[in-house]
Parts: sequence; C-alpha cells; structure tokens
Amino acid sequence: MVRKRAGAPAWCLAVLATVSANAARQEAPPRPARPPDVNFIPTRQVVADQMLRLAGVGAGDVVYDLGSGDGRILVLAAQKYDARGVGIELDPGLVALSRQIAREGEVDDRLTFQQGDIFDADISGATVVTLYLSTSINTRLEPRLRHLPPGTRIVSHQFGMGRWRPDRTVRGADGTDLHLWIVPERDAGVSELAVVLARAGLDGPVAMSCQVETGVDPAGFFAVALSPAGRSDGRYLAIAPDGVVIELAPYAGVPDLSCFTRADAERLNGSIARSATLHGSVRPRWNATVVCGVVDGAASVCWQYSPEERTFVKIGEWIADGRAGRDGASASQGRPL
Ligand SMILES: C[S@@+](CC[C@H](N)C(=O)[O-])C[C@H]1O[C@@H](n2cnc3c(N)ncnc32)[C@H](O)[C@@H]1O
Repeated sequence: MVRKRAGAPAWCLAVLATVSANAARQEAPPRPARPPDVNFIPTRQVVADQMLRLAGVGAGDVVYDLGSGDGRILVLAAQKYDARGVGIELDPGLVALSRQIAREGEVDDRLTFQQGDIFDADISGATVVTLYLSTSINTRLEPRLRHLPPGTRIVSHQFGMGRWRPDRTVRGADGTDLHLWIVPERDAGVSELAVVLARAGLDGPVAMSCQVETGVDPAGFFAVALSPAGRSDGRYLAIAPDGVVIELAPYAGVPDLSCFTRADAERLNGSIARSATLHGSVRPRWNATVVCGVVDGAASVCWQYSPEERTFVKIGEWIADGRAGRDGASASQGRPL
C-alpha cells in the first residue's frame, strides 16, 4: 500500500534526488568519529524495493537498516509499505541528510536515524533488518542477528553471512544477489555452550562455565575453564557465540571461575579490603559481568569486557597470605566473601 497524505507525494525517486542535490550544495557536514567499515554506496531504489518485498515488509514492521546511508531504504519502507524504521549510521552528515529526506518525504514521524556504530547499537526492536555492508561485517553481526526473535527477517544486498546460509536468494535488478534469512526457532535440545564450543573448534573438557553480559552485546560471551584431560592446568577463555575466543589467563591447579554482577564484585572488593589475609582489589569499570578466576591457588584475577577495546581487560587481582594451598584459596576467593 502506498502511504498517502495531503500534500505528500507517494514514494518516488524525485524526492530523494531533489533532497540529495539540495543537501550536497550545503556546507560540509561533520565527519564520522572513525572511518566507516565500508563506504557509502547507495542501494538503487528498484533494488531497495526488491529487498523490502523479499522480506515481506508491511505496516506492522520495524525495519532496521544497519549502515543506513542516506536513509533511502527506510524512507521507501515507510512511504510505500507503511512500516516504521530505525537507521544506524556512523556518518553524521548522512544521518542529517536522512532526517532531512524523511522530513521532506513526510515520513519523519515513522523513522528514527541514530548516529552510531552498528556493533554497539541496540537492534532488539527490529522485525526486519536490512544490510548493505560486506560478508565479513555480516559475519561479525551474525551472533546478534541470530539472537533476534524467531521469525525476524534479515535481507542483505549482495553479501552473504559466512556459514549461515540464506533461506532464499533472488537476483537483484542491479545484477547482485539479494539474500533473505529468517531467524529460526531456538533448538531447545542443543546446549548453547556446546554449539559455541563447536564453533570455536574447542572440544576439551569444560571444568566450569558461566555467562557474561557485556552490557553492549546482547549475545554476550561464555566464560569457560577449559581443562585438557589428564592435566592439572588449563585456560580460562571467553567465547563469543560466533566462535571468537579471547584468552583470559592460563591457570594451574583446580579451576575456580565465577561470574559476578557489578554489585557483587564491589562487595567482594569490600571484603578483600577488610580482610587481614587478602591483598589486592577489584574495581569494576562498567555495568557488566565481572569474571574472576583463581589462577594458581593463591592468586585470583578478575576481568571485564571493554566495549572500546572489544576485549576483556583486567580489573583487579588479589592474593591470599600463606594460602598457597589451592583448596583453601579457591574455596574462599572464588566468591564474594
Ligand atoms: C554501502 S552503504 C549502504 C547504505 C544503505 N544501507 C543503502 O543500502 O543504501 C554502507 C553504509 O554503512 C555505513 N557504515 C559503515 N560502517 C559502519 C558502522 N560500523 N556503523 C554504522 N554505519 C556504518 C557507511 O557510512 C555507509 O553509509
């Protein structure tokens, strides 16, 4: 259905062409905070329309365009299909242009354009996601896309998504492939940790594990103590759902791994400060899970995920006086005292 209002044109190329030309004559917009992962190349209108039809976009949908450029896919989704939309775009000039196009196309009440990084953005409100990025970026996004509610449709212009095969592929009017994925129902019979370990190519015995909320990525991580059979040492690892492995530390002796809320970790820090035999501190930096592991019986280390560095950073350590015996140390140190 074409969205019509008094004085408002139906969706048409002319709106975008005129506004883009006017905007181009204005003064240079501010630059993005960092270079974009791919440059702005707009999807042709006819292809954008094919993408929206492939996803079956309708009035009840909320379409998220990740790397939304000049906002054309969302303007079309609102004008022609009566959908609502959210665009995430790194380049402030393109965000400003999108807002202007949406205003002039009289669909600004249905569209939001956020200046930000697609890797940090909250996309949980999407019923449809559109992408025109690259295969490697799609693959990085895959864990978060897979965590969207079952039935969410994802359409990518030209690029696939690594091992996640599309449910349907059609040929676009520009000669590229347009891929559709529909987020499947979760397989309740398969342990998510087992899937994550398999993706990471890890098959050693897991002595302990806990789940890590990063505060920025809904998919989070699993923190695991991986202990090779027949050995008295191992590694603490954080494993993302897409199989990315971050080494936290090696450990010797009996593993003791715990995930704390920030509040619990702060209480733990208070307990260490009051103790006569424990020395050190834990200083959570973000409102996200704190992972702590006993590394050699007497010494414990804690980490938190840093959204800026995109890795785990050490946020504290402590050691027990004269408590090199691993059992006593792990019993008292692995949890808030
Ligand atoms: C190929 S263009 C696609 C534009 C639009 N989706 C379309 O199909 O017409 C990719 C866009 O992604 C933006 N981009 C690249 N990396 C980004 C990131 N990490 N976060 C947000 N936007 C990004 C670029 O600035 C560019 O506008």
